[in-house]
Amino acid sequence: MRSQVGIIGAGPAGLLLSRLLQLHGVDTVVLESRSRDYVEARVRAGILEQHTVQTLRDVGVGERLDREGLPHDGIYLQHPGTRHHLNFEELCGRKVWVYGQTEVVKDLITAQLDDGPPLLFGVSHVTPEDVDGGAPRIRFTDADGVAQVLECDVVAGTDGFHGVSRPLVTAGTSGRLWERTYPFAWLGILADVAPSADELVYAWHPEGFALLSMRSPSVSRLYVQVDPAEKIEDWSDDRIWDALSTRLAVDGWSLRTGPVTEKSILPMRSFVSAPMRRGRLFLAGDAAHIVPPTGAKGLNLAVADVTLLAQALVRLLTEKQTDLVDTYSDKALARVWRCTHFSWWMTSMLHRHGDDFDAELQLSQLRRVCSSEAAARELAENYTGLAVDL
Ligand code: FAD
Ligand code: PHB
Repeated sequence: MRSQVGIIGAGPAGLLLSRLLQLHGVDTVVLESRSRDYVEARVRAGILEQHTVQTLRDVGVGERLDREGLPHDGIYLQHPGTRHHLNFEELCGRKVWVYGQTEVVKDLITAQLDDGPPLLFGVSHVTPEDVDGGAPRIRFTDADGVAQVLECDVVAGTDGFHGVSRPLVTAGTSGRLWERTYPFAWLGILADVAPSADELVYAWHPEGFALLSMRSPSVSRLYVQVDPAEKIEDWSDDRIWDALSTRLAVDGWSLRTGPVTEKSILPMRSFVSAPMRRGRLFLAGDAAHIVPPTGAKGLNLAVADVTLLAQALVRLLTEKQTDLVDTYSDKALARVWRCTHFSWWMTSMLHRHGDDFDAELQLSQLRRVCSSEAAARELAENYTGLAVDL
């Protein structure tokens, strides 16, 4: 097999990269270790920045998003006694969309299987080789158990946090890793019930953070802060609804409850690996960095990475110019660190940890964001996504 770009991983990063390259006449093969059903059912992010939405429209997969996605003008920030609306449209002229990662992935897979380059599910033993030379290859075993070799000009490592690409970059470069684990986790549920608010509610509470989000007018997505050592079996649906009702409470409002269809506990970490390139192997998305979900940045950052990478690879492969591939890692990392800071800041402001002194600092910061237009605008600009050149 041969293609100009071999892409490892069919998450949002790999699928969108393939689509962007296809539209510029660069051919790709995408290799995914899981099945199509598994990839399409993985419940993860839910908020798309304006730039992400525009990118999906530009590559021709925005039709269902425009029909079913929910545009939101802002979010609510809450601490006991106060639920304050931040209007992003007024603060910075941008908005965000509620549209699940599952739906983004389904739309990209449908487009790729319809008229796109090969997308192989269920592959194993994926091994990039000779990435330091001009002609790398990827060895893998296909879904029928047959050993294959994909010869290519470039390998894109979009295989997520647990993939094979990042260790290869780390081993072959004098790079660095930065990591922060947080002393709390999120317990997340999906429930068949209409959302109890028109936009997302981020709530600070003495018992811990809670977030009211949604997937559609009839499906709610909710999270409560828990200890990372908690076991999901110890959280009955009633216990979860009680915690949510307590932490999200404000006068004159009540939480609608309904059947829980999915629940899981998500650890929280920040992680950055640099550089995002070794020779002809380029990293993008969760393969290179992880942010805690409080800023709703993970998926959007993956989209920003591959937008930049696609431009660089088109220039390399069609115009034979190396300028953009040479600046890819530094340019991508500038955004990565901005989003890493914003996600850390939102996480630190909203989750209960430390002592009473920490709690007062958090509340002071929240009151500041809710009362100062300058402070609110800083949050709004970061949450809705900063311009391509930061
Ligand atoms: P991924 O989506 O991880 O895709 C990588 C793909 O590579 C996967 O399909 C994987 O199966 C495949 N793969 C891995 N190894 C190999 C291999 N060796 N060979 C071939 N294929 C391979 N972000 C938010 O903004 N909000 C959220 O609420 C949120 N919740 C999350 C919950 C969880 C449990 C996780 C893990 C992440 C969450 N995120 C959230 C982050 C967000 O989902 C990610 O940032 C986003 O998925 C990144 O996309 P990606 O394509 O880079 O990586
Ligand atoms: C979600 O809907 O899953 C979601 C929304 C906002 C976040 C994190 C997750 O900050």
